Amino acid sequence: MSNPQKLSNQSRWPRLFDLLQAPFVALDRLMEAHLPPSMNPFAQTGALANVSFIIAAISGVLLLFWYSPSVHEAWASLENMSALGQLTRSVHRYSSDATMLLVLFHAAKLLFASRFSGPRWVAWVTGVFSLGTLWFVGWLGYWLVWDSRAQSLATISARLVEPIPIFTDPLSRTFVVNEAVSSGLFVTVFFFHMLIPLVIGVAIWMHISRVARAKFLTSKPMGAWLGASLLAVSIAFPALSSEQADMSIKPAFETMDWWYLFPLAVADRLGTGVIWTAAFVLGLLLFTIPWTLSRKEPEKAQVDLNRCNGCTNCANDCPYGAITMVPRTDGRPWELEAKVDPNLCVGCTICSGSCNSAGIGIPSLPVQDKRKVVDQWVDQVQNDGEEPLIAFLCANSAAGDFSIDENGVSTELPGFRCVQVPCSGWVNPITVERALRRGAKGVLVVGCGCSDPPFREGVEFTQDRLDAKRSPQMRLEKVDTSRVRFILHPRGDLVSMLADIDAYRTDSLAKPSGFKVQPKHWVKGVLVAATLSALVWAPSNMASLFEADPSPELVLSLKYRPKVEELCRPATEEEKAKMMRHMKSDTICERSRPDVNVRVSVGPSVVHQATYEPHGLASDGPSFALIKIPVGEGEHQVKIEVGHADRWTHVKEAQLVFRQMERHVFTFEEGVWTLSSPNSPRK
Ligand code: HEM
Ligand code: SF4
Ligand code: SF4
Repeated sequence: MSNPQKLSNQSRWPRLFDLLQAPFVALDRLMEAHLPPSMNPFAQTGALANVSFIIAAISGVLLLFWYSPSVHEAWASLENMSALGQLTRSVHRYSSDATMLLVLFHAAKLLFASRFSGPRWVAWVTGVFSLGTLWFVGWLGYWLVWDSRAQSLATISARLVEPIPIFTDPLSRTFVVNEAVSSGLFVTVFFFHMLIPLVIGVAIWMHISRVARAKFLTSKPMGAWLGASLLAVSIAFPALSSEQADMSIKPAFETMDWWYLFPLAVADRLGTGVIWTAAFVLGLLLFTIPWTLSRKEPEKAQVDLNRCNGCTNCANDCPYGAITMVPRTDGRPWELEAKVDPNLCVGCTICSGSCNSAGIGIPSLPVQDKRKVVDQWVDQVQNDGEEPLIAFLCANSAAGDFSIDENGVSTELPGFRCVQVPCSGWVNPITVERALRRGAKGVLVVGCGCSDPPFREGVEFTQDRLDAKRSPQMRLEKVDTSRVRFILHPRGDLVSMLADIDAYRTDSLAKPSGFKVQPKHWVKGVLVAATLSALVWAPSNMASLFEADPSPELVLSLKYRPKVEELCRPATEEEKAKMMRHMKSDTICERSRPDVNVRVSVGPSVVHQATYEPHGLASDGPSFALIKIPVGEGEHQVKIEVGHADRWTHVKEAQLVFRQMERHVFTFEEGVWTLSSPNSPRK
């Protein structure tokens, strides 16, 4: 059967996306059945992420009452906080985790619902940007505790950025002795941790700039649930530091916050290269989704000036702010006319539902023509001696994939003449009234019924228009609306939809009565909040999988620039021939910075011997080395020799006791030796 009216999903693989979306739809249905709309997290994922982010930002600012952003005082300032400070810290930690959870939830939900194509690319791209920067802020936040987790973060961050050729002195050398960790670097991290949330704020503003009446804040009950859940988790599981960062002790921690610190485990197991590759590939895939996964640009609404009387209804209702009212251009007696910005229009057709005079809509679904077609169907069915029933089926509803022929007949919906529409918002009350007046025995509108519909406000507006609560209103006094029903069934909800339709046929489908909040809903609400809290808390305190090798370590951090040397050798006859007359010489001399040789011995054995070339574009800078050598437990004689050519010019010897997890770090910087050893055995 042909399907001329089919308004297919805008993503490239609609079947796959339906499959991915199914669990979200099922959970959303479950919530809708058991909770009032104001307490359904699926209805307000963006707002939830936003409110959680705001809580994180406010608690972060409040933390400044207790926290000292200095590498020497940070850890102690957090350890010695008052109970209120500790609570603020925990709320900051868990609200940051909740933000990540909720942003991922929001993004996955919109991705699987294919809400990324056409003009939504702006929301998509700024969303991905916010997600990346949010993660970065969290990663930086964990530095600020300056505990052993932060120590690992710092070391891995250094390894990550070292390949970028802007650091002359390898950053890893900063994190081998406590004295080398610069206060400046720490303050820079602190500064970015405070500044980047402002950048995210700007990104979110752009994110919702193409959405009219964005649900920026949650409903009050939902906000209260979120706040209470965060408080409960914060009291039950206070955020704690691990041991103070100490570069002479290998970092070890049992748990870590996987919401932000997962790269630690990845880098530890697979190396930093994997992180760069994954970040690049994932970033590219995510940022380009609006173009790679969209099948086609949505059809854009157009205004028919012959019908538009400038009433402003459509401009007020468009959920994407795509319509503006402009001065009349055609000399007709009205002051204004509607104008659609095709760059903003997503083709939802909610404006068609707003316009009583059929003055606006997408070209493939002209309202006035459809009204006439419905008239003909009603006449035909009546002529056949049957009762005409008309159905308007939202393309995102469970009936969205029904095959419908040019006469509106669908084998999947016998007894009805059907019109498929992109959104139930297309259905204008006049269209329904006209069908009824023509003789239709009933009009059924099937909407998608998600708590956050693909076209945002289409379901709500249609319900209100049919209930005569929103302009343009159904004129209840003019027609008998007893057989007008608006039922909501998202994709996949076929069985329940067909049951409703059967009930409709036998006239036993009750009108929805609305949700009356009862005490049991509060109990269910607590269960949902507890589940969300558990989802926030569990990854936040999961085993780190970060296994430090307990064997003691001998570390040498070297920066050495031996004097430039002149090396002379006899010139060959050929070279002499090429020399200018006044520069003739028997020898050729070249000046260069020599390579640095390093030899490390523990007891009688040489455990490391290598040569390090000078850095710098002209290879005349210092040589750098960061050498980590596992050493057996116990007391050992250590000897480190540094030199060039065949001379050992600098030698350092020490008798050292090596204990598990500890490091003795020799620093050799431009001729000066320093030895940093752990003060006391680790508890
Ligand atoms: C800090 C992070 C984020 C916040 C606070 C946030 C918040 C919001 C809000 C309040 C809306 C408007 C919802 C409405 O009223 O219908 C929205 C829409 C949207 N968000 Fe996000 N969002 C964030 C991250 C993301 C991410 C990571 C993505 C995807 C990668 C994303 C994709 C979208 C899209 C595509 C829309 C438009 C939906 C539509 O027009 O139908 N957002 N977001
Ligand atoms: S609703 Fe119709 S008549 Fe009113 S401004 Fe829009 S197009 Fe014109
Ligand atoms: S179809 Fe109409 S209501 Fe929908 S975005 Fe376009 S102009 Fe706005």
